[in-house]
This record gives sequence, structure tokens and C-alpha cells, in this order.
Amino acid sequence: RTLYIDNHTINNKSMITFETIRNDGTKPTMKKLVDLKNIFARQLPKMPKEYIVRLVFDQKHESIVIKNENEKIFGGVCYCIFPISKMAEVVFLAISSDSQVKGYGTKLMNHLKTELQTRDIHFLMTCADNLATGYFKKQGFHKHILMDQNLWKGYLKDYEGSTLMECI
Ligand code: COA
Repeated sequence: RTLYIDNHTINNKSMITFETIRNDGTKPTMKKLVDLKNIFARQLPKMPKEYIVRLVFDQKHESIVIKNENEKIFGGVCYCIFPISKMAEVVFLAISSDSQVKGYGTKLMNHLKTELQTRDIHFLMTCADNLATGYFKKQGFHKHILMDQNLWKGYLKDYEGSTLMECI
């Protein structure tokens, strides 16, 4: 099921589209989730593939994919919403290597933040791979966690070699 679609133009040339999806068992959604899972698996080689598949296809997780003008998915973010804590966890986020460092990762994060705000979610948490903490810092994340720990402790996925970061 398509939850939300939004269009953006970059440099007045190529049109990129965002789409929010969750596993609804339909073929078109499954295909998109497979494409996204493949990008995560390639860009996050340290993550076990089965683990990525499990979370991307889990019905409690949602994803936003970013598509080019040919509708090809070239990145996305998978996240989990905790409504009572007004929190969402960024689980996986990646842009295909040939499209990195062109601003798409920032646009994707901005789109996620806007969507979450409209759903009354105000805290974003992530266990950032140590190689990605620079990216998250530039997106407004910090290591000093301000959120009450009763609201997040035990809920988030923690990995060796990762740093817990928060964005309000
Ligand atoms: N470390 C430090 N800074 C980084 C970075 C990294 N790994 N990746 C990007 N940046 C910086 C960019 O240089 C840019 O800085 P600037 O604003 O000063 O120019 C800023 O972050 C935003 O870059 P942007 O082009 O919007 O990001 P992107 O499209 O390259 O996407 C990632 C960033 C992290 C999503 C992408 O590099 C990626 O898919 N990496 C592999 C997967 C990964 O590590 N995911 C995060 C953990 S789940």
C-alpha cells in the first residue's frame, strides 16, 4: 500500500519521488521492498542479509524509498515507529553508491522528518555505524541523548561498533 507520495525536482532537471511503503503482501510493494533490501545489503555489507530481510519485510517496520525519473529505486530508509514514546528508530538508511554525496541522503532524511512530524513523532533515534556518524551529525543528530531513557531503553537495535544518536 502506498501511504504517501511526494515529488521533488533537483536542478530543474531530474524528478525524484518518495514513496512510503510497508509490507502489505501485494506484488508491487514486495518488488519495491526487494529492491530496497538489495541496496541495504550492498551498502551495509557488515549486516547479515537475513537480518535485513527480516526487518525490511516486517509489518511493524515502514520504509521510504527514493526513486529517479524512471521510477528506479536508488535509496531508502527503513524505520520503526513507537507512538507512545513519540519516537521513531532509523533502522537502515542507504543511497546507491553511484548516487551518493549528491544531496539525496539529506533529502531523504528531511522527507522522513517531515513525514514523522505530521504523525506527531518528535524523536528520531539510531544506532549509527561508526562510519556514518558524520552523515548523521550533519542531519542534526547528536550523541548526547536528551530523551528520557525509560522511553527508549530496550526498544532499540544496538550493534557492536555503533553509536546511539538522537535527533529532536
Ligand atoms: N561520513 C561522513 N560524512 C558523510 C558520510 C559519511 N559516511 N556520508 C555523507 N556524508 C556527508 C556528505 O559529505 C555531506 O556533507 P556536506 O553537506 O558538508 O556536503 C552530508 O553528509 C550529506 O551528504 P548527502 O550527499 O546528502 O548524503 P548521501 O546521499 O551520500 O547519503 C549515506 C549518505 C550515509 C546514506 C550514504 O553515504 C550511504 O548509503 N552510505 C552507506 C550506508 C550507510 O552507512 N548508512 C548509514 C547507516 S544505516
